[in-house]
Amino acid sequence: MRLAKYLATAGVASRRASEDVVRTGRVTIGGQIVTDPARDVGTDDAVALDGKPVAAVHERVVYALNKPAGVVSTARDPQGRPTVVTLVPQTERLYPVGRLDIDTTGLILLTNEGDLAHRLTHPSFEVEKTYRAVVGGRPVRDPELDTLRGGVELDDGRTAPARVQRISADTIEITIHEGRKRQIKRMCEAVGHPVKRLERVGFGPLLLGDLPRGRWRRLTDAEVDALMRAASAAG
Ligand code: URA
Repeated sequence: MRLAKYLATAGVASRRASEDVVRTGRVTIGGQIVTDPARDVGTDDAVALDGKPVAAVHERVVYALNKPAGVVSTARDPQGRPTVVTLVPQTERLYPVGRLDIDTTGLILLTNEGDLAHRLTHPSFEVEKTYRAVVGGRPVRDPELDTLRGGVELDDGRTAPARVQRISADTIEITIHEGRKRQIKRMCEAVGHPVKRLERVGFGPLLLGDLPRGRWRRLTDAEVDALMRAASAAG
């Protein structure tokens, strides 16, 4: 994080005023005067203002991971299977945002803020999630798409309206904002199309894009802001 942002986040002054404070030579990092407000500061750096330590600033990080099949999306697995958390090398504890089934691939978010992970998956803040499903059975027909759109009766109640698009005879894209267990698989089964492969391609305003399977990237500040906006709009 840039030094001026660090000071502003720590409550020293506004971002602009913090820049001026730095330029006047009142700030040290590890005992050395630093006059560049854009200087990068890590969580281990000892920052001081007028010789007094500035409280360490916790930086929120959010990662997007393209989850491979065979990896569980809980932080720990009692059966010792690989977890999404182990795929993102990090010294900090990470919290997966919601769950994907072990055989589902695609976009899953991880963050160092437990509160954020909770907020993004809490039913009152449910953001839209888009899945691409390759399904079995005969070629997918319009009436089945309409049924999926309107709501399907499942054993835990009727699903909310969904956006559904046919990509090819055996592939559909479904956007839902609920997050029930195995929801997409159960919805597709209910209309006679067992899911053969399931991938999540969108989470709120974020798209999986061309992130390769098993790889991760850190979201930009703008992406995190957009995600937060989507979560508050949905709530
Ligand atoms: N719906 C499912 O059926 N499985 C998932 O992993 C996610 C949504």
